[in-house]
Amino acid sequence: AGIHDQKMMRGNGGELHQTAGDGTPVLTTAQGGPVADDQNSLRVGARGPLLVDDFHFREKIFHFDHERIPERVVHARGYGAHGFFETYESLAAYTRADIFQRAGEKTPAFVRFSTVAGNKGSFDLARDVRGFAVKLYTQEGNWDIVGNNIPVFFIQDAIRFPDMVHAVKQEPDRGFPQAQSAHDNFWDFISLTPESMHMIMWIMSDRAIPRSFRFMEGFGVHTFRLVNAKGETTFVKFHWKPKLGLQSVAWNEAVKINGADPDYHRRDLWNAIQAGNFPEWELCLQLFDQDFADGFDFDILDPTKIIPEEVLPAKPVGRLVLDRMPDNFFAETEQVAFMTQSVPPGIDFSNDPLLQGRNFSYLDTQLKRLGSPNFTHIPINAPKCPFHHFQQDGHMAMRNPVGRANYQPNSWGEGPRESPADGFPHFPAEEQGRKARLRPESFADHYSQARQFYISQTPPEQRHIAAALTFELSKVETPVIRERMVSHLMNIDETLANTVAAKLGFRSMPEPADAAVPTRQDLDPSPALSIVQR
Ligand code: HEM
Repeated sequence: AGIHDQKMMRGNGGELHQTAGDGTPVLTTAQGGPVADDQNSLRVGARGPLLVDDFHFREKIFHFDHERIPERVVHARGYGAHGFFETYESLAAYTRADIFQRAGEKTPAFVRFSTVAGNKGSFDLARDVRGFAVKLYTQEGNWDIVGNNIPVFFIQDAIRFPDMVHAVKQEPDRGFPQAQSAHDNFWDFISLTPESMHMIMWIMSDRAIPRSFRFMEGFGVHTFRLVNAKGETTFVKFHWKPKLGLQSVAWNEAVKINGADPDYHRRDLWNAIQAGNFPEWELCLQLFDQDFADGFDFDILDPTKIIPEEVLPAKPVGRLVLDRMPDNFFAETEQVAFMTQSVPPGIDFSNDPLLQGRNFSYLDTQLKRLGSPNFTHIPINAPKCPFHHFQQDGHMAMRNPVGRANYQPNSWGEGPRESPADGFPHFPAEEQGRKARLRPESFADHYSQARQFYISQTPPEQRHIAAALTFELSKVETPVIRERMVSHLMNIDETLANTVAAKLGFRSMPEPADAAVPTRQDLDPSPALSIVQR
């Protein structure tokens, strides 16, 4: 009787549903068995022990015990939304990518914004770079532009990434801090890494405490290639520009907001989209060729450099609109798997050593995090275009080859075949050189663009940078690290260096830093050594 009065009803599609008497569905086990009592375990007597034949309790607790998957090793805290990308005009002259062939074409998109350093439960308004990862479900497969809201990066070579991330996250002995850059390990690594100085200027600026995701730019960071149907290539940098413009909070606002509402950025995106205020970005391209690249005194393969838009304007080629929140945070925002190596024909890579390392890393991380090579079977990761392959089996396989043939070529006339004309062509760049671990001389200038960024800021923005550096370095307990940082600032802007040094109580200024990455010998921990030796 009552709510357990179970009946079978036919749904709209004629399917049978188990329903309780009032028309609501009956609670079932994962095997579909109807549940009579979900409140009390099976036991002997009112105060007796529980019984192992309570398969409903066993299954319910078993599933709960396995709810967590590893959080992302970086960018653990994120928030996503669905939308679409609309192409403004054909870019066939530059790329054969189907997404750019027809004006007005709309491509489904999913975007995940994130902080980098904090764990999944950290607060939104940390001083940090924000991830800006875009998955475009094109007719030729998924294209992931896995970018950030800052156009440059800390390091020039992916081999340094594990060290950089170890240094930025919580210190291994004490387990803090998180989502907060002010600590000795972070500033130790940075002070020993002159190539990070340009990024540090951006991180200390208001860009690192955005008012909301809707007021942020996004950048592909690296130089990529476009390749057209004739096989001609153009270098490209990808930029997302918010229709609402750029806005940040002040540091004291960020600190208060983090205490009062750690989900501030999530709430903002949710509220905006639910209210129909769909945030929008324009995709803008900086397009250039090898001759143009050769005209710079920096290397366009160096991810710590930008190409100034005053020199090369960014051409708007389409718009990204976010208009729908996920139905389920875990299924979509958590399980989405971005990978820099997911590119359609017509988009290709440059020899940026950070990009090439990333292309290797993301597949590994998705296997670790999602647990099966079949992570592309999860709906948020599956392509939305037709796809056919012979990959089979493995944990949680939702799709296997149909029919007899699971290989090609075969004599049965079954299954897909490769297509030289349509398939991804890999741009046939000519490469030669000696095999060695080295960094080109063209990657050596670490200060010019840091200085240009600082100078480009308005006086209040410059004061914010000085205040941020002072606050951060005042938390650093090891004097030599502070001195090393001030010695780098002297190469960026002397007034900035003097201001920070004065606020930190320096009695005299150190020598300007050497740009070279310090050697073991430089790091001799003898007490006499107060700054990196030159
Ligand atoms: C995750 C951007 C450098 C490895 C991410 C995410 C973004 C991102 C946006 C979060 C994706 C999401 O929302 O799910 C960048 C940018 C970089 C950079 C812009 C430099 C320009 C690197 C490098 C490596 C790396 C050099 C390794 C060699 C990872 C890993 C994850 C990640 C392992 C976690 C992915 C996951 O578990 O889903 N990165 N990253 N990243 N990145 Fe990077």
